[in-house]
Order: sequence, then C-alpha cells, then structure tokens
Amino acid sequence: MNTSPPPPRDSYSADLAHPEYHFTAPTGWINDPNGLCQWGDTFHLFYQFNPDTPVHRSIRWGHATSTDMVSWTDQPIALTPTAAGPDRDGCWSGVLVDDNGTPTIVYSAHDGDRQLPSLAFGDSSLTTWTKYDGNPVIEGPPPGLAVTAFRDHCVWREGDLWMQLVGSGIEGVGGTALLYESHDLREWTYRGPILVGDINLTEPVWTGSMWECVDLFELDGHHVLILSVWDEGTTHFSVYFKGTYSAGVFSPTAVDYLDHGLRHFYAPQTFRDDLGRRIIVGWMQEGREDDLTIRSGWSGCLTVPRVLSWGADGRLHQQPMPALERLRQDRWDAEPGRLSEGTRMQLGSDDSPTVDIELLVSAGSGAVLELDVLASPDGAEQTTITIDWGTSTLSVDRSRSSLEPADTTPLSGPINIVEGLVELRVLVDHSAIEVFANGTALSARAYPTRPDSTRVRLRVLGAAIDVLRATSWRLAAASEDRASEVDAEVAVPSTSPASRLANTPGHIQLVRD
Ligand code: FRU
Repeated sequence: MNTSPPPPRDSYSADLAHPEYHFTAPTGWINDPNGLCQWGDTFHLFYQFNPDTPVHRSIRWGHATSTDMVSWTDQPIALTPTAAGPDRDGCWSGVLVDDNGTPTIVYSAHDGDRQLPSLAFGDSSLTTWTKYDGNPVIEGPPPGLAVTAFRDHCVWREGDLWMQLVGSGIEGVGGTALLYESHDLREWTYRGPILVGDINLTEPVWTGSMWECVDLFELDGHHVLILSVWDEGTTHFSVYFKGTYSAGVFSPTAVDYLDHGLRHFYAPQTFRDDLGRRIIVGWMQEGREDDLTIRSGWSGCLTVPRVLSWGADGRLHQQPMPALERLRQDRWDAEPGRLSEGTRMQLGSDDSPTVDIELLVSAGSGAVLELDVLASPDGAEQTTITIDWGTSTLSVDRSRSSLEPADTTPLSGPINIVEGLVELRVLVDHSAIEVFANGTALSARAYPTRPDSTRVRLRVLGAAIDVLRATSWRLAAASEDRASEVDAEVAVPSTSPASRLANTPGHIQLVRD
C-alpha cells in the first residue's frame, strides 16, 4: 500500500473536470458511499476507496466527517484489506449501525470471487476500527440457492432482533434481496428473499440478474427498497420499489428509476438524519475514456446529499440538501416575464464552471426550453438540458459536451407537469451535473476541454414560456473552513408515526403492522 500522504485536492485545480463541491476521494478512486450516518452532531461518510491509482482495486474504506454534509474533513482510512483475512482482496460496501453504543460496520469481505458479510467495531470517534476475529459472520450464500452474487448490506433493528438484507440474484430468475436475522450481529439465520425480480421483465424497468447495494427504509407511510442493477459484470442504474414490507416480505406497488442519469447515479445509500430527513448520496462514475481517467489521477465523485420525499405524482422526489445553498455567491436574477418563441439569452456570469440555477417557468404543451451549460462562446462544446412540455420529459444531450471522446448516451426521464409549471434546479460542478425537474433527478458527467466552456444559455422553442423566477449563482468550493458558518436547517417533521420511531444511525427501524 502507498503510505505517502495523498496530494491535497487543490492539486487538481488545473484539471477542468475535477469538481469543487462534489465529494471526491483525496486522490485515486472512489465508488460507493458506505456507512452513511449521523453520530451525535457529526455526519460520517465512508466510501469505497483506492488511494493508489484511479482504478477499482484493493478497495479500502475511506472516511470523512462533516457538520453539514457540504464541507468534509478527511479522516484516516477506516478499513484496509488484511493479507490473510477474508477481505484480503478488498473491503467492499456496507453500512454502519449503533450496537448499543458500539459503532459497528457490516461490510462485504472480498476474496477472489466471493464476498462475505463481516464486521468491524469502532471507537467513540469512529476513526479506529477493529475487525471481528470471527469474520465472516455468514459463511456463504444460502445452501441450495443458485445465486449470481452475494454482497452488500442493509441492517436495521426490529424489536430484539437485528435484520440484514444481502444483495443477490437467483440464476435465471432475477435479482433479489436475501433476509437474515440475528440477536447479536454475529450469528445469522436465513429467512428467505424479501422480493425476487424477473430478469425477463423489461417494463416498466428491467432489474437485471443481481441487485447491489440494497437499502430498505420507511418514508412517510410507504416502504422503499432501493437497489442498483448489476448484470454480467456491468453496472447499470439504480431503481426503487415502493410498497409494503411486512413479516419478511416486500410487496411492491410500483417500481421506477431513482435517477435518469443511469450509470452516473449508482450504488446510492440513504440514512435518516436527526431532523427526520431521509438523505441519499450516490456515486457518479466517470464517463470519459479510461486512459484519460488514469492520467488524471482521480476517478469518480459523489452526488450532493439529496432529501427524499413523495411527490404528488406518487414518485420518489429528490432535492439537494438545503445546506448546499451556503456556497452560493455572485447571485444573478432575470426579470420575470414572458419569453417569446425564439428567445435566446445568457444566464448569469459567463466564466464559472460551478453554477447553481433555479428556474420556475410555466408554458403550454407546445413549448420546449433548452438550457445549455458548460457551453463555449461558439457552441463547439455545450451540454443541453431540455424540458419538453409536449412529451413531459426532461433530457440531457451530451453529444456536443466535449471535443474529446466521452460517454454521450442520451439521458431522459418523465416529469410530472401540473398546470404547465416546471421547477428546474441545475447544479454544475465542472464534469458533474445534477438536474432536478419537478422532483425528477438526472445526474450526468460531461467533459468540456476548453476553459471558456462555462456559459449558461437559454432558448425558447415552439411556444412562449413565462419565467416566474430565474436565478443563478456561482458555487464556492466546499472547503473545510466554511463549515462553522452554517445555521441549523429547519426541516418539516415527518407526520408518519413509523418514521418517528427510534432508529439506528444507519437505518430507520422498520415497523411491522
Ligand atoms: C457497487 C459495488 C458493490 C460492491 C462494491 C465494491 O458499485 O460493486 O456491489 O460492494 O461496489 O467496491
């Protein structure tokens, strides 16, 4: 292992792609967020980390802490593979729970082609970790079940028992989440799958042969099962089932994409904070050529933390955590008014690769709004976000994002438009873009090569659009020193009796009827 201290993140400041307010590893590779929790007043983020090189190899658990989830302080690496241990090839994804005051990590110990549930115990600052000498705590997938894979964990308390889901899939059948129970986190009894997908079903959402990073929680009267679709060694996208979980069975009423950015929003994890908010963070993997990534020295970032809620359309909606707003600088406002068809205008300053845009617009079904971000003055590079009132869709076109080869897969998803109103929020942070339109989320990566690819331009096509509000800001880098300026956020308390029950820092306590 490379023991020299990592370079500070600002050593990447000449790299046009490196984000300033999205969390990246100090150097090297990051994938899934892990062990997300609020322990006392401190938020903890652990993550899949390879500090040596920006590739997925010999994975450790990186660790950072924060008081607001905007500025993070790096902590020592929490878990590293043990040469002769069951995690000799990597400490893969998992969660953190409060075992009667003992911070306890449940993670996948990776050895060869096997990953097995394992434990590590933390000190009170969650910075020193000791692996359980009885690892792995489950010796293998349930005997007799032909599984496609077996890893990743969701752990919560139900009465006197610990419950655990392990992500898996049944050969030829579909992805699944396998349920176990335990009195002490050390000895586990298999209960069965809580839900099994159908690999042949492509509508409304294909859920593949294996479910990674399963996450079960209650949100305002409904249960949610989040999973990430993995198939044939390829990561695809994240999905959620909405429904009811009871007595070891999840009965779904709906399934949908969690984020329409497909592989650019993967392996998310959620936790409930002390204000009762269900917060989600996902991994935004790279979309540029591998050799460019290797040469850059870093790979991947995490989304900003987002707050989950149910929309009036019955779908899971996401909004950036309000604390992010403290990074806003250089406010720019447009005059409210009607923009006729054919209008083209620039929004905000023209020289910032970090922007936060809020638009509240209203239009009839013939209208289309195009918003170019990361655009060069001559349009040689631009990433175009489109709202189409006729088809009720949000889309992102990256075919002209970069003069270099990069992922240009078209991205789009349905939005719920009521009385013509669209509330659009766009976060741009160099190569990381997050779009929220009436609660629908779409994450994307784009790689402009020109330093002047920083403009934001708006076009009105098809029919006039009324602008009720149009504001943009530059967002400052999320460095540690500003964290103390944050005021406490006010959250709307949840009305659901279940969500008011005590929970572990990692996961809410699920309630049985
Ligand atoms: C998801 C994933 C998990 C696994 C981890 C390994 O991206 O493949 O299933 O535990 O990453 O880093």
